[in-house]
Formats: sequence, structure tokens, C-alpha cells
Amino acid sequence: MVAIRTSTKGTWEAAGDSAGSMTIIRDGAELRACVQAWKSEGLRVALVPTMGAIHQGHISLVQAAHERSDRIIASLFVNPKQFGPSEDVETYPMDEVNDTRLLSGAGVHVVYAPSFKAMYPDGFVTTVSLSDITAPLCGEFRDGHFAGVTTVVAKLLLQAAPDVAVFGEKDYQQLLVIRRMVKDLDIPSEILGSPTVRENDGLAMSSRNAYLSAEERAIAPALYQTLLAVADQVASGTESIDNACRAARESLQAAGFGDIDYIDVRDAQSLGPAGPGRSARVFGAAWLGKARLIDNLPVPE
Ligand code: PAF
Repeated sequence: MVAIRTSTKGTWEAAGDSAGSMTIIRDGAELRACVQAWKSEGLRVALVPTMGAIHQGHISLVQAAHERSDRIIASLFVNPKQFGPSEDVETYPMDEVNDTRLLSGAGVHVVYAPSFKAMYPDGFVTTVSLSDITAPLCGEFRDGHFAGVTTVVAKLLLQAAPDVAVFGEKDYQQLLVIRRMVKDLDIPSEILGSPTVRENDGLAMSSRNAYLSAEERAIAPALYQTLLAVADQVASGTESIDNACRAARESLQAAGFGDIDYIDVRDAQSLGPAGPGRSARVFGAAWLGKARLIDNLPVPE
């Protein structure tokens, strides 16, 4: 049995002190004080940022954090700034009780769950935005999305001041964007990428899979299978990148997907055009009913 309690100001000293206890903190200043207390004891601190709807993919990020730290903070904050006007912030799955139960079971010490007003108080006018690496792939289809992500992640990193922060490779472009931001702004946290967790049939775990009907769920693994085929064809040289990506779009449409935002092979570091002798990745984003599914994987070298 795990004790979960919500901190009222000043009780953070105990966060993570007794085995199996987890504290919910809602105030940035209080979080900072908690982290300072941990660091003064020489403890290493990890941050796992999430928007809730916790699944096994998030739990694997917590497990990666355990290997690198003594204390783990998971943030739960559905960040409206990273959703476009026609996107799903209102319907995004949210269940704080269940999320905190799952995070506590995974050994998280503090859940940081600020309100919208605490994160973006009246008068908030700052945006952190990056060029270049945010332009292709999802950046082309989700206007303002990455500026919303980098603004909130910059705030979370400054509030939690973690030694390490863990992000999933499922959102590979997001991971690269955050690495670049941390480098450019001299934020002293290590950014760790953690491998995508898949269902048995290959579908990448995602909170948005909850939008799929039973029929769509049966079709969804085709995205992974199709990206695997592109990676194979490009690695073996049997098809050009253009031909492999064109065939992938056709096969996704035949499988029952709706709009295909992109299927592309890009340089794994810069997201520029893939070139000989450099590692490359295949990226895909496609709509299935109300869900926009994304996935990516490496082209074998
Ligand atoms: O990957 C996510 O869930 C979000 O983009 C993040 C990093 C928690 C920022 O809101």
C-alpha cells in the first residue's frame, strides 16, 4: 500500500523520505524548495514530464529515471499551449487519481501537478521557440505546437532543476528539439531519450490510442509495419527514399488510414535530408478516425 498525499505549503520536507510515499505538489516555488533540499543531501534528481493519461510508455520513462537518479519527479500538466485551435485539448484524456496511483506504484517520489494559472499566471507573455529543427515533419502540420512544448518544458526544467530529464523516443522530433533548446539556453540538465514501448502487435503506446475504435485499433499497427518496410527498403537499397515513402502512403491508405501528414526518411540528428554514411530515421504521421498517430524508427546501418 502506497501513501499519496497532497502537500500543503511547507510539508515538502518529507517528500520521498519514507519508503513508498509520494507527495503531490502544485506550486513551482514549493517544488524548487523540495529539490533544493534533496540536492543539499547529495541526491540526484530526475524529471519525467507528462501530460497524464499514464500508460506503460510513461512507466518505462520512470524506470529509466530510476537508473539515473535517487529522487523522481513526474509532472502532470496538460499544456494547452501545445495544442492547435482545431486540436483535442478539451477531450484529451485526464484522470489525475488514476495517474497518481500508477506513478506512485512505479516509485515516483513527487507528482508535480500545477494548475493552468500556476503555470501561466495572468500577464504571462513569454514564448520559447526554436527555428530549423521545428520546421519539418510535425512542425509543418501543427502550427505553434513546438513553441508550446519548448515553453512549458523550459519552465518545468527551471522549476524542477533536475540533473536529468527523460523523454520518449516515440516523440523523436520533440526529443531533438528539447536537446537543442537545453544546449542553446545552457540549461544544466541532461536530456535522456528512452526507447518507444510497443503493444504486442507493434503499435507504439500513446495516450491518443484511447481515441481508436475497435476496428481502428485493429488497423493501427499498419503504421509501424509500414515504417519497418520503408526502413528495410532504404537500408537494402532496393528502393529510393521517394519510392519507398510513396509506396508506404499507398499501403496505409489501402489499410484504412485517412489523411497521411508525412512519411519521410531524414537525418537522425539534424532532421535534414538523409545522406550516405549518416544515421537516418523513418518518420510517419497519419490520421485514423479521431486519432493522429505518429511513429518513427531507425534505418538499419
Ligand atoms: O510529450 C509530452 O507528453 C509533452 O509534449 C510534454 C513533454 C510533457 C510537454 O507538455
